[in-house]
Amino acid sequence: MTQHTSSTLVIPEVSAIPRHVAIIMDGNGRWASKRFMPRVAGHSEGLGAVRKIVQECRQLGVEYLTLFAFSSENWRRPPEEVSFLMKLFLKSLKGEVSRLAENDIRLRLIGDLSRFDSGIQEMVQFSEEKTAGCKGLTLTIAANYGGRWDILQAMRQSLVANPSLEPEQVSEELIQPYLSMAYAPEPDLFIRTGGEQRVSNFLLWQLAYTELYFTDTLWPDFDEAQLHIAFDWFSQRERRFGRTSAQLASESLSDAV
Ligand code: IPE
Ligand code: IPE
Ligand code: MG
Repeated sequence: MTQHTSSTLVIPEVSAIPRHVAIIMDGNGRWASKRFMPRVAGHSEGLGAVRKIVQECRQLGVEYLTLFAFSSENWRRPPEEVSFLMKLFLKSLKGEVSRLAENDIRLRLIGDLSRFDSGIQEMVQFSEEKTAGCKGLTLTIAANYGGRWDILQAMRQSLVANPSLEPEQVSEELIQPYLSMAYAPEPDLFIRTGGEQRVSNFLLWQLAYTELYFTDTLWPDFDEAQLHIAFDWFSQRERRFGRTSAQLASESLSDAV
């Protein structure tokens, strides 16, 4: 497995198209309420936006797309909504896996899957195995995921692997391999639809140097054109990673020589 180093330790390569895009798909409930439909109708409609954005990222050469589907806090929702989301999750895994494999898209799940029923757990395993050899795009679905859970489980695993560790030996390099997205570089671009400007316990560790983009568009309305706007915005960011603008300018001059 390729190891990726933290952006706080090594400055990553920068390109106009983000290598890794992470999205909080928010606003499904409001999309439905505006149309006098039940909230869950917004979740079904949101699946259409997922299909569009996955295909477009694949076409544009994005290497990793990570979608927040269900947070560790979303269990607090009304039981009928949670159970609808679980059914939709299982149904979409079943319905989409062949299409993903045909399009050379690898599917991975992150989050504490032990809380899901066995039908979902088995389908997750089947889908990951079926797409394991795909190389076009890695699509990660975060389900029962929480950023703090991720950091804690990585710390626990690293302590189990190194039981005689002294406190001063605890480092980023030690924890990094146990984070649930250790297989991917950190996100270059974070997108949140639905108007809220918060991170809601998504990839807390991995967002250290990610560009954050917020749009009022509700998730079911987010389409290819909206994604292009986000990518254009991203391409205009100056990613300094702690350096000054003048340092960046002199580096690009020396690269050109
Ligand atoms: C995001 O849309 C989907 C999930 C959290 C599963 P919401 O359901 O949060 O939609 P709003 O924010 O209530 O409009
Ligand atoms: C975040 O959306 C989680 C997902 C999109 C899966 P929420 O709508 O649950 O976020 P908060 O609770 O309003 O911050
Ligand atoms: Mg919401």
